[in-house]
Amino acid sequence: MDFRTLDQAGDIAGKTALVRVDFNVPMAEAGGKRHVSDDTRLRAAMPTIRKLADKGARIVLLAHFDRPKGRRVPEMSLQPVVKPLGKLLGEEVAFADDCVGPVAKAAIEALEPGHVLLLENLRYHAGEEKNDPAFAKQLAELGDLYVDDAFSAAHRAHASTEGVARLLPAYAGESMRAELEALDKALGHPERPVMGIVGGSKVSTKLDLLRHLVTKLDKLAIGGGMANTFLYAQGHEVGASYAEKDLAETAREIIRLAGQNNCKLFLPLDIVVAEKLAAGAPARVRELGAVDEDERILDAGPETVERLCRAISNSKTLIWNGPLGVFEMPPFDKGTVQAARHAAERVKEGKLVAVAGGGDTVAALNAAGVTQDFTFVSTAGGAFLEWMEGKVLPGVAALQAD
Ligand code: 3PG
Ligand code: MG
Repeated sequence: MDFRTLDQAGDIAGKTALVRVDFNVPMAEAGGKRHVSDDTRLRAAMPTIRKLADKGARIVLLAHFDRPKGRRVPEMSLQPVVKPLGKLLGEEVAFADDCVGPVAKAAIEALEPGHVLLLENLRYHAGEEKNDPAFAKQLAELGDLYVDDAFSAAHRAHASTEGVARLLPAYAGESMRAELEALDKALGHPERPVMGIVGGSKVSTKLDLLRHLVTKLDKLAIGGGMANTFLYAQGHEVGASYAEKDLAETAREIIRLAGQNNCKLFLPLDIVVAEKLAAGAPARVRELGAVDEDERILDAGPETVERLCRAISNSKTLIWNGPLGVFEMPPFDKGTVQAARHAAERVKEGKLVAVAGGGDTVAALNAAGVTQDFTFVSTAGGAFLEWMEGKVLPGVAALQAD
């Protein structure tokens, strides 16, 4: 796909760039004050900010935080972002108490070229989430060009992600560009064979994903709680496991679809069970179907993981969303960790492109200590999933070159 990048922006010295970033960051409270507890998303904005600063543009950051629903909720102010952002940049960051109108305009007028101003939470205005044209126009009035560096918010058709991009010359920021390029390598135009791993607890949240992936991939491994639903659908005993039994027919439909599309499906061959979901609970490996009434399936078994690793070895591209077991609770992290480390090894040997994304997935790869070794790990949640489902993200579509 073709989108405009900053390299096509020309001479923007002295111009005002409105830069949509995703600063919806984890915050913690201490001594009655909120502070940023994970600055990954602030770091992600650095390359774009630096590039614009080098070009001599005025940098005005647009961001949302949480879901204040069009009201001014003081606990959802972006103010706590100012200090850590300034630290990362090594210079002071200005802040304006409103993202449109006279307050924003005055702050922009006071801003020197090459410097950075953060505007208050966009979602304090109801027009943002409604993609209200009048609100988008108010935003557009603030700048000369628009840069979107917030892939993780690109599944939202909001004024700051979609509306404003239609009113100003619009470009993908550096993080957005890196993300789109990695995703294209993984699923748009992958080197084949291309394999997917989809895990997590619920089939119900990933139906669109599975239906789409079986048409795109050569192999698809299903793990985590959602694999239980597939096992149940195939008539295997799942004991006290979490399973969406009402989706058995849907699971069978996906199995059929995979067959019709020549996508080889990998379901568990063996499983790890325990009587309760607790860290260090006595775990046993069971064959399929040999699950007692009071046992729960909590991880993929060793044979399953070995077969999965072989399948990874025979693939050129891997796309991964969702853990294979209850990775937060050892020993049920074993399957996920082993498969993730194997994939990371293959990447390091130059034999695999491995792209992963989604909230739980990032945490699982971090726990396995392999995030750095994957080709690309997306920190986007909903946006990554919708993109993997083959949906058009409004924030990305708005950047498309004509
Ligand atoms: C996120 O954190 O997933 C994005 O910033 C989008 O936030 P939202 O789900 O509140 O739209
Ligand atoms: Mg979200």
